[in-house]
Amino acid sequence: MSVTTRSLFKSYGDLVAVNGIDLDIKPGKVFGFLGPNGAGKSTTIKMLTTLIPPTSGTIEILGVNAIKNPLEVRKKIGVVLQQPSYEPNLSVEKSLEKYGMMWDVDKKTRKQRTEELIDVFDLREIRKKKNEDLSIGQRRRVQVAREFMHEMELLFLDEPTVGLDPGARRNLLNYLKNKAKAGLTIFYTTHVLTEAEYLCDEIAVINKGKILAVDTPDQLKSTFGQEKTIKIHLLDRNDKLAQLLSGIFGCTLDFNTGTDIIIQSSKAEIVLSHVLSILIENNIAVEDLSAMPTTLEEIFLKMVRDTNESNN
Ligand SMILES: Nc1ncnc2c1ncn2[C@@H]1O[C@H](COP(=O)(O)OP(=O)(O)OP(=O)(O)O)[C@@H](O)[C@H]1O
Ligand SMILES: [Mg+2]
Repeated sequence: MSVTTRSLFKSYGDLVAVNGIDLDIKPGKVFGFLGPNGAGKSTTIKMLTTLIPPTSGTIEILGVNAIKNPLEVRKKIGVVLQQPSYEPNLSVEKSLEKYGMMWDVDKKTRKQRTEELIDVFDLREIRKKKNEDLSIGQRRRVQVAREFMHEMELLFLDEPTVGLDPGARRNLLNYLKNKAKAGLTIFYTTHVLTEAEYLCDEIAVINKGKILAVDTPDQLKSTFGQEKTIKIHLLDRNDKLAQLLSGIFGCTLDFNTGTDIIIQSSKAEIVLSHVLSILIENNIAVEDLSAMPTTLEEIFLKMVRDTNESNN
């Protein structure tokens, strides 16, 4: 395994940011870590990369006990943290060069990699520009690119595509895919579902410090995708409607429009018949009714919603 953790916990005072996580990540895989704001993604990455110690639990990275031998781990991994990091006065090409020097990459390889990364990350036009003069997305591209100046077996990326335009985003994802094909293990956090689906071999959904599910994107869909989503669009708003529907599990009224009822359930047909009979009894006219395919996004949102509700 490239990453193994058992009962990993991290508390900040009373707040439990990571609440007992077990991970097993196989070599050469892209592992997606997916969760809403504050779920514990960055805290987990910081522990796995030895930047902060866990409150309790074990971490093994590439066969090394990361709590006992953090320096040994750091030599073998790459990490791009969520917060921007750059040297304001260095040019793009100098940043890459300097990063290579920090990692003791020989001069010839440094030159070669710098050119390659400038190409791949589309930095040619800005190669002489200082970091402080770059746009946010350009700066992020440099921050990710420089991590590839050195050899590593395992790379941690904390929301690397934030701020990238669609072209640059797709470019980075394809580059990462190729790296993974060549054997690099990647730990990737995001809240963009389509990204995780495109890139990852396995996805863990995390909320409130706990892993809710770990599986391949396809398997997640078939396990949790039994659910159907049906949308009923009403002709007019009805003030009584929210109350009428309140007893029916699996259906919600869209409060913004007041005229859309969303049914999301593995027993959508049964819920639908209840909803329709209530609408008919109360003379509420339906304008349109449609079934929607379940996307990974909906599965994710529902999982997160369900844990939030059960905790409250
Ligand atoms: N140094 C800290 N001190 C106190 N609380 C912290 C600290 N770092 C993180 N937290 C809290 O721990 C929880 C998890 O934060 P974390 O940064 O891991 O979330 P995240 O999943 O990365 O979220 P995002 O998607 O917003 O980046 C949050 O409630 C956060 O406020
Ligand atoms: Mg984060």
